[in-house]
Amino acid sequence: MTQSRTRISKAVIPAAGLGTRFLPATKATPKEMLPVVDKPAIQYVVEEAVTAGLSDVLMITGRNKRPLEDHFDRNYELEETLTRKGDDTRLARVQESSDLATMHYVRQGDPRGLGHAVLCAAPHVGDQPFAVLLGDDLIDARDPLLSRMVEVQEQHGGSVIALMEVDPAQIHLYGCAAVKPTVDESVVQVTGLVEKPDPADAPSNYAVIGRYVLDASVFDVLRRTEPGRGGEIQLTDALQALASDPDLGGPVHGVIFKGRRYDTGDRGDYLRAIVRLACEREDLGPDFRDWLRSYVTEEM
Ligand code: G1P
Repeated sequence: MTQSRTRISKAVIPAAGLGTRFLPATKATPKEMLPVVDKPAIQYVVEEAVTAGLSDVLMITGRNKRPLEDHFDRNYELEETLTRKGDDTRLARVQESSDLATMHYVRQGDPRGLGHAVLCAAPHVGDQPFAVLLGDDLIDARDPLLSRMVEVQEQHGGSVIALMEVDPAQIHLYGCAAVKPTVDESVVQVTGLVEKPDPADAPSNYAVIGRYVLDASVFDVLRRTEPGRGGEIQLTDALQALASDPDLGGPVHGVIFKGRRYDTGDRGDYLRAIVRLACEREDLGPDFRDWLRSYVTEEM
């Protein structure tokens, strides 16, 4: 078992997807830039990485993703205008995203799947364990998951995935894990993985959600991974290889997540995330909740 000695510091965020479910909003705007209340979805994800201690962030981008780089960079013109107006609150909000993390970018070129996107991170990551955060999954900041996964990786070595129980009828939308219990009831050993199985063939109702802490041996496995489901190189297939042969790069464990997760890649869930987070905001919440209450009682 390969035990990590250096604290994990690098996060990889694949962000090359086309966002076709949100057309036409995503025709000229990356889906990661769609606002959740008043922050682009991707900023929540970078904040989550930083909160878990991962302040070196590599984004895997593609064509038409320039706004992502601009968002995490300085905007001197805007900063100067706000400074001149003495609008310190907005100035701080503008600077927040550029001060957040050390950002790096690499372009995926050919969109050959999530596994291929992660492989694009190999030169930057080197041989240390690293995290992968999928931008479509928002994990509520009050339900920390990634920091727990980092702890589990430091304890067991190998790789750690995040699992959530879903309705068996929904399992075809996710990677699915076969698991064995460990002494810790929130951690399981993963014995097998299958990408988006038919419900009849699913080994469990444990769905893989978009947070991973991976041993760097996953890169070698990905180089050998043939295209799988949808003709794409699947990260799930590489993790299946690791789970079935721990000699390749340590075991695969799963952290069972029971907190709040929003799939902002789905329009319904995206709307639910906005309503929920807006209701809970100190500045917007009180008015918005009043309006929502009367809207629901009077109009629905
Ligand atoms: C990806 C992964 C899948 C995982 C899901 C979580 O699928 O391939 O294993 O369950 O993210 O959101 P996607 O939703 O990108 O098709």
